[in-house]
Amino acid sequence: MAQSVQVTTSPSYEVRIGEGILSQAEQVTSSYSGVAILTDENVAPLYLQGLGLPAEAETIVVPAGESSKSFEVLEKVLERLARQRLDREACLVALGGGVIGDLAGLTASLYKRGINFVQCPTTLLAQVDASVGGKTAVNLPSGKNLAGTFQQPAAVLADVATLASLPAHEFESGLGEVLKTAILSGPEALSSLETDAPGLLARDSQALSRQIEACVSFKAHIVAQDPREAGPRKCLNLGHTFGHGIEHIAGFGVIPHGIAVAAGIGLALEHAATIGVLEEPDLVERVQQLSAALELPGSLAELEARYHLSIAREDLVESMRADKKNRGDKIHLVLPVRAGEMKLDVILG
Ligand code: NAD
Ligand code: GLY
Repeated sequence: MAQSVQVTTSPSYEVRIGEGILSQAEQVTSSYSGVAILTDENVAPLYLQGLGLPAEAETIVVPAGESSKSFEVLEKVLERLARQRLDREACLVALGGGVIGDLAGLTASLYKRGINFVQCPTTLLAQVDASVGGKTAVNLPSGKNLAGTFQQPAAVLADVATLASLPAHEFESGLGEVLKTAILSGPEALSSLETDAPGLLARDSQALSRQIEACVSFKAHIVAQDPREAGPRKCLNLGHTFGHGIEHIAGFGVIPHGIAVAAGIGLALEHAATIGVLEEPDLVERVQQLSAALELPGSLAELEARYHLSIAREDLVESMRADKKNRGDKIHLVLPVRAGEMKLDVILG
């Protein structure tokens, strides 16, 4: 049975989570004047038919991977919508991972000054994070996600059955964001994740549905309070400033994002303990054990060993300066005080 989470932004929307719910795309989009689907070349052969949308729906297939988050691809997608003569009451369906979701969201917010879009996320990372909250973007030569908008989707259909075909490293990447959300949510969420860790690794659909629902509920609560990341939403960046620094040094694409974030969480805990922000010292050990149970690196040393890398702390700090969440050249961190409570905007001094 599908679970449902309401994201009470303005406008509000429903996230449905469950097995086999891709086929609800037809019902969810039936009131629009026209439908186009944006997907990538890996996902199209696997799940396009499962949407059950009419054959006349315009299908736009872009190359898989981060390179499709570019102005060049964005322009091509916009042009395809225009040639199809879709009007302002049309809807764009995003079928794929976070790359497709971000590109579709930006396309939808620009086409004719804004049409609706429906997210059908097919990676764990997109189901627990990217498909909810309305951040859209393409990359610039100067950095990732530097050109984007906030545009909430009209609905999200997270079909856990699609995760069966996800390559192992992409699945692990999603687990990094699941770990992050449990730490942000608090002790009960950590206990629930500890219990579900073996089921998640086995891609058991009940464990997946439970944890995806927990992540989406938490993110929905935060995004409803702070849709444009003026304050509390910043907590979602736990582990990310360190993680982005690691990804930058390794070369983007070498270490999956969520795996770098897992090591980044280890660094954030270590730093929080060192500067006296952490008021629950046992959390360090607990998160390390949970990382191990999820087969994620719990520290920079574990990540270095896994990827045969050596990352000097000075180089890491230097690459963290490039993070777009910084103001000026000051590095802003989210650090844990205890499970469920973060300190925002701590300057790395
Ligand atoms: P992705 O979209 O590149 O997908 C990863 C790979 O898996 C691709 O090769 C894709 O073709 C393939 N794939 C997708 N679903 C599959 C399936 N079910 N079976 C087999 N293969 C499948 O990567 P991602 O990790 O989903 O997303 C990363 C992107 O998300 C980044 O660009 C990041 O900036 C963005 N992001 C956005 C937000 C947000 O709030 N908007 C949050 C986090 C990340
Ligand atoms: N992925 C972080 C956010 O949506 O704010």
